[in-house]
Amino acid sequence: MVGSAIVRELSRQGYTNLIVKSHADLDLTRQVEVEEFFRDEKPEYVFLAAAKVGGILGNAVGKADFMYENMEIEMNVIHSAWKNGCRKLEFLGSSCIYPRLAPQPITENCLLTSELEKTNEAYALAKISGLKYCEYLNTQYRTDYISVMPTNLYGPNDNYHLQNSHVLPALIRRFHEAKEKNLPYVECWGDGSALREFLYVDDLAELCVFLMNNYHGNETVNAGTGKELTIKELANLVAGIVGYTGEIRWDASKPNGTPRKLLNVEKAKALGWTYHTELDEGIRLTYRDFLENTERRGL
Ligand SMILES: NC(=O)c1ccc[n+]([C@@H]2O[C@H](COP(=O)([O-])OP(=O)(O)OC[C@H]3O[C@@H](n4cnc5c(N)ncnc54)[C@H](OP(=O)(O)O)[C@@H]3O)[C@@H](O)[C@H]2O)c1
Repeated sequence: MVGSAIVRELSRQGYTNLIVKSHADLDLTRQVEVEEFFRDEKPEYVFLAAAKVGGILGNAVGKADFMYENMEIEMNVIHSAWKNGCRKLEFLGSSCIYPRLAPQPITENCLLTSELEKTNEAYALAKISGLKYCEYLNTQYRTDYISVMPTNLYGPNDNYHLQNSHVLPALIRRFHEAKEKNLPYVECWGDGSALREFLYVDDLAELCVFLMNNYHGNETVNAGTGKELTIKELANLVAGIVGYTGEIRWDASKPNGTPRKLLNVEKAKALGWTYHTELDEGIRLTYRDFLENTERRGL
């Protein structure tokens, strides 16, 4: 999702010399293949958007895989980029790197000040390692490698996998299927009270290109809207846009995740970026993409 949005944004801005590799073309956990790629192509600018990504369930049950694969991808790519003279690299992290009970809205400087959320601890530790490795290269070798920490993202090319998707695409799929099958109710995880923020992926892509051109610094940059809503409000909004009129039931025996996660986005704002796409408009665009690509996705 993020990688394709960055490619769309770069193309929109007129960049043409883009090298893109899918997972099938190049497995970034393979150190030798990654080294060969960087040696042959010598990219000047690298956006590292690839990662093993999942929702609350995938993260909670697959901790070992999430840590190992993400650390491998990050270390292979960042190290090979540096060894091959990459001028600038931008690393995509995630807001789950911040402490579970960080003061809200979360500022960039609260990284590593207290305990992480347990359900996504392995993923967060891997992401923190990636951003720290960029920072250490900058201080030891004077590179210009930066990182950006997005809040929850959604948009075209999202992942609608039943076990591994994030909350917003999961709700789109479940309400869509419930509507198609005329189901009387849909059951959702948790009690719906957790507060979350959502950013449309094309807005993030604009920030990523902006930062690549304009930001230098070791401290990461938060990417979000600065607005939040409860998961219950989100579910009602998605159901309305999808057109599902049945009941929404909450299974409070399942985890809510972090109680609240709102990013402070003043730093990105001060640099000159702000989001454009409001949540209802973004969900409409995302649902349209879901409907148009349902067949391609094999859903
Ligand atoms: N989605 C969000 O809400 C969110 C929020 C904050 C931050 N982020 C960050 O944004 C970045 C992109 O996330 P996304 O939402 O765009 O996820 P995505 O759609 O799943 O994209 C990740 C991409 O990485 C690829 N990949 C995974 N393992 C790979 C490997 N070993 N070698 C090569 N490619 C590999 C995946 O390919 P396959 O699908 O074929 O495995 C996929 O194309 C991640 O770093 C994530 O942490 C995402």
